[in-house]
Amino acid sequence: MSVTASDPWFQTLFADRIGGANYGKGTDIYKFEKIKRAKRKALADHPERKLLDFGIGENDDMADVSVREALTREANKVENRGYADNGIQNYKDAAAEFMQRQFGVTLDPVTEICHCIGSKPAYAMLPAVFINPADVTLMTVPGYPVAGTWTRYLGGEVVRLPLLEKNGFFPDLDGIPAEVRKRAKLLVINYPNSPTGAVATKDFYKRVIEFAHANQIVIVQDAAHILLSYKEPPLSFLQVDGAKEVGVEVHSMSKGFNMIGWRLGFVAGHPKIVQAYADVKDNSDSGQFMAVQHAAAQALRTAEIPVQVRTKYQRRLEKLVAALKQVGFKCEMPGGTYFLYAAAPKAAGDIAFGNAEAASQYLIHEQSVCCVPWDDAGAYLRFSVTYIAKDEAEEDALMAETVARLKGMNLKF
Ligand SMILES: Cc1ncc(COP(=O)(O)O)c(C=O)c1O
Repeated sequence: MSVTASDPWFQTLFADRIGGANYGKGTDIYKFEKIKRAKRKALADHPERKLLDFGIGENDDMADVSVREALTREANKVENRGYADNGIQNYKDAAAEFMQRQFGVTLDPVTEICHCIGSKPAYAMLPAVFINPADVTLMTVPGYPVAGTWTRYLGGEVVRLPLLEKNGFFPDLDGIPAEVRKRAKLLVINYPNSPTGAVATKDFYKRVIEFAHANQIVIVQDAAHILLSYKEPPLSFLQVDGAKEVGVEVHSMSKGFNMIGWRLGFVAGHPKIVQAYADVKDNSDSGQFMAVQHAAAQALRTAEIPVQVRTKYQRRLEKLVAALKQVGFKCEMPGGTYFLYAAAPKAAGDIAFGNAEAASQYLIHEQSVCCVPWDDAGAYLRFSVTYIAKDEAEEDALMAETVARLKGMNLKF
């Protein structure tokens, strides 16, 4: 592609990591943008048809009233006005208390915990702690891509480990070639897993720790959805003997405490890794507003909040599993997250779908049923239960409508 008259004078100056002189000229449309466009078109073409939106991956409720009140109180204190740098001790103490109460994990709140402005920026920063050009980050797919994107920005390489149903949505660590293990410095895992809904077992985490030692690879475990665990009590990587020796677990206030927009989380684990992360962080941001940290500390000390959040999403997932089964989906209750990850239909009547994306576009266009396609490791659709419904009766009505619309499509699996 060449520079044209309509380009700005600095078009050739863009860094290679974002496309160089071709930046902004590609025609590839990001998956979520495609869904947004399809939603807009479905609404325009069928204004009479309500959009059944299982595409949004954000909690539908506000944070608990006690947490919102705490924010108001703290926002009015003069001492909370300034830079928070690497965090206030009250939030770190509350995080340590939470890890003890919830998981029986003992952490030093001074050296083994540091906050992040939501867990997303932590995944942008942790590669900077370890990755030099040509180093490898092992990333499971499908998954949350930020640590991989930043690995590439830093000149590193991402090796994708597919999460397959036949392996229980665990990566095949033994199958990683020796040459890759040698160059790998980071393994990023995520359980409960988004989008597959799989939860980790102690056995799996033991294997991860052995793998880390055997290959000298640091582990980053993404615990964003940890409080949304349904079959078993939530399991922290740090509960398993030796985990703290090999890495960190990154927690988020977003999902389990209905605090998505508040932007807070924490990195916990080996003190030297926490310290290095804090150094990179200190050169990237000046910390989350102290009032938000105080309010989140209160949330972390309120054990009922995540229980309420979990109960609601469990109920909704159970209803969705029953509804989708009625129209032919082969799905079961996920172990965790607020997502249901189900094999995509192969066809609707005579219309064959080449992949999950084609299936999802068809569902939106034909019946205004919105979900997110994943084609990274098999063809799957992700249905989120974070839809808007004010009570159980509305949830049931939405399920009945979903079944009615999908039944008419003659989906084939
Ligand atoms: C698996 C996973 N990790 C991390 C995040 C980032 O969450 P936050 O930045 O809100 O803490 C998300 C958000 O969607 C997620 O799904």
